[in-house]
Amino acid sequence: MTILDTFKTTNYSKINNKGSLTFSAPSNIALVKYWGKKENQIPANPSLSFTLNNCKTVTTLQYEPKNDKNISFDLLFEGQPKESFRPKIQKYFERIQDLCPYILDYHFTIDTKNTFPHSSGIASSASGMAALSANIIALEKLVNPNETEDYYLQKASLLARLGSGSACRSIKGNIVVWGETESIENSSDLFGVEFPYEVNAIFENYQDTILLVDKGEKQVSSTVGHELMHNHPFAERRFQQAHENIAKLKEILKSGSLTEFIALVESEALTLHSMMMTSMPYFILMKPNTLEIINQIWKFRETTNIPVCFTLDAGANVHVLYPNNYKEEVQNFIADELAKYCQNNQFIHDEMGFGVESLS
Ligand code: PMV
Repeated sequence: MTILDTFKTTNYSKINNKGSLTFSAPSNIALVKYWGKKENQIPANPSLSFTLNNCKTVTTLQYEPKNDKNISFDLLFEGQPKESFRPKIQKYFERIQDLCPYILDYHFTIDTKNTFPHSSGIASSASGMAALSANIIALEKLVNPNETEDYYLQKASLLARLGSGSACRSIKGNIVVWGETESIENSSDLFGVEFPYEVNAIFENYQDTILLVDKGEKQVSSTVGHELMHNHPFAERRFQQAHENIAKLKEILKSGSLTEFIALVESEALTLHSMMMTSMPYFILMKPNTLEIINQIWKFRETTNIPVCFTLDAGANVHVLYPNNYKEEVQNFIADELAKYCQNNQFIHDEMGFGVESLS
């Protein structure tokens, strides 16, 4: 029996009445980046992220018992039908049906909303898939209440991973590791685990302001980007580097050395984008204003000695990271010097959060 088999629900009952569940899930920002995957959403390298608090998806799952054994659902976004989400959700249900056969007993109505502006260009797949998976696991608890809390958490993360890789880091914990790596005990390729070691108080309520540089559709999706890591000339060295960087970050999170933190985090962001630029075909997701912002951050850090740094996800937007005790200075700097590089001067202040919440 493989570990995956332990997550297959075999004994379960059927609920005879209609019901409804609601969960919120936050987005997360990777410090050590996941880029490249194997089959079944298994990461090519381990990653570590800070969970966010304000950028959330809230999903209500209504379930209604039925007699056939087909996948059946309606999709709503803010109460209105949203057919464009259907293929992604259909694929998600197909991927999880062996692990969660009870889903075939119900017709679902899934109603989703985001707490961040929907035109913001922020990827909502991490929070969206985490919120949906939290609901599915809450349903599982109703039909099979006999497992441990740890089991349900791991399985929620595993399901989220099958929806969108990085979503597995949005279930529980403020710092989450996904991907088996020697320096993190109990780390797994199947699900995210809460960072299990001491964390310096300087990282409490760490701040992340997301600068919305480009809200347009990305030219290259992350699915395609991951794919291009196959046969990439630098892939193996990069995957190895991610393991090394997680081991280093473990020590930095303990010591609280922000100089080392900044060097590692910014290097990871630029490495991610260098992988894109050295793929075949190659591509660039940063925009001129992404670079303007990076240079402004470096200048500000040099002149003020305030330990602010940046990271990037798979797009042009910039995440500005800084300790809570410099909130005022950095937020003034953002409003005065960085907002002008954002589309419609838009940015979102966020900070470290803790994962999914039941709103039922
Ligand atoms: O979860 P995906 O397939 O959208 O990939 C996310 C990849 C990055 O955001 C670039 C890095 C990460 O670890 O979140």
